[in-house]
Amino acid sequence: MTILGEGNTPLIEAPRLSAELGARVHVKCESLNPTGSFKDRGMAFAVGRAVERGAHTVVCASTGNTAASAAAYAARFGVRAVVLTPEGATATAKRAQARAVGAHVVELEGTFDDALRCCRELAQEDGFELVNSVNPDRLDGQATLVPELVEQLGTAPDLIALPYGGGGNSSAIALGIERAGIATKLLGGEARERPTTFASAIRIGEPAHAENIDRLRESGRLEVVTLSEDEIRDAWLALARAEGVFCEPASAAGLAALRRSRPVEGALVVCVVTGHGLKDAGAVPEDDRPTVAPTVAAILEAIA
Ligand code: F0G
Repeated sequence: MTILGEGNTPLIEAPRLSAELGARVHVKCESLNPTGSFKDRGMAFAVGRAVERGAHTVVCASTGNTAASAAAYAARFGVRAVVLTPEGATATAKRAQARAVGAHVVELEGTFDDALRCCRELAQEDGFELVNSVNPDRLDGQATLVPELVEQLGTAPDLIALPYGGGGNSSAIALGIERAGIATKLLGGEARERPTTFASAIRIGEPAHAENIDRLRESGRLEVVTLSEDEIRDAWLALARAEGVFCEPASAAGLAALRRSRPVEGALVVCVVTGHGLKDAGAVPEDDRPTVAPTVAAILEAIA
């Protein structure tokens, strides 16, 4: 039973990226969750359990996807959602998603880190609950990706590559790996230009889960690759143009990390695509070709 249809997302093969990387590359389409991002698995748990504990308001800080997800589950569970977004830094469609389902979207004069700090304070109010990934229920929900993947593949993958923003998803998937008793390694891609990257979903200066990420690195379970803007952009376009998978730029950070660190020959690899391309359609470069006359000749000339 699901709440809004979260989970059970498609796992697809990526034949051209497999040939490029000499590995068996798969794409896990978390972008096909109900609100278009991986957040829904954890949010179904977090909002559901908050309501069981008597919360009437859920609060989160967000670059957009957490906001859209929290807002949708709050609507479904009949409670209020208050989402704080950094001013001018979130994709329009994500704020529209949150507003459409009735959330209070408050833009803050500040960064994501400022918004998270405010949320932690706001969550002290009576009946308020924080549903950012520092809430352990979020991690419980997101950890369900791992057994689902193992079932879809029929075996444990060698490597799971994913974006590293605040580190909640990496922590959740590490937890899932531990619970499943498998030896799968993690590869996280982070933007070098954290606070200003064009991949707006991961515009996070100070990762909330940094300590856990360091522990995972020290124990050899996770490797982090720091990516340039071009590496993220190239991976984003490659996923779209080589495989037909249109994700938002941040979601390609796992693939970008994989391209840099090169998997072991023949390894079974899963790239987690975290958010849908329609979330941030404005990131797609404009086509600067002019409008043409309605004739075949003009059209052929335009596409030559
Ligand atoms: N990919 C997408 C599409 C995201 O929206 C996020 C985080 C991440 C990757 C990074 O995941 O933080 O768990 O390491 N988005 C948050 C938000 C910050 O507010 O929607 P992480």
